[in-house]
Amino acid sequence: MKLVGLGIVTLLFLGACQAADTPRGDPEAGRMVVDNLDKSCGLCHTLASAGFEGTAAPNLDDLRPGYERVLNAVRRGPGMMPSYSDALTEDEMHDIAAFISREVSG
Ligand code: HEC
Repeated sequence: MKLVGLGIVTLLFLGACQAADTPRGDPEAGRMVVDNLDKSCGLCHTLASAGFEGTAAPNLDDLRPGYERVLNAVRRGPGMMPSYSDALTEDEMHDIAAFISREVSG
């Protein structure tokens, strides 16, 4: 009985984690969040359809990151990339993930 209870708690926990990262961003809102950012992604990254021409970081047109990958990068700031988790809300980071992943998926 104890084990069953633990299983249920684990499932609930995993479920909650998944729900938090379900794609829910709005790509058009994401475009505006990116435009309003001080240190815009375009300083470092290239993404032709968004007008980014930076060359200091991986070219996003080539990398073609999916939603989760963008979200993680924006949250954590891998390597030389700054983390945006202090500057942006969760919703804004989801919006950016929706925007970038849509732009590179075509
Ligand atoms: C100061 C330069 C800089 C800025 C600004 C920047 N990035 Fe990056 N980004 C990097 C660098 C450098 C890497 C490669 C990090 C590594 O893997 O070492 C990277 C990696 C990434 C990756 C790939 C992560 C992976 O899984 O390999 C994504 C996606 C990404 N950035 C998106 C963004 C977005 C979206 C923004 C704007 C909100 C942004 N970056 C702003 C420098 C920057």
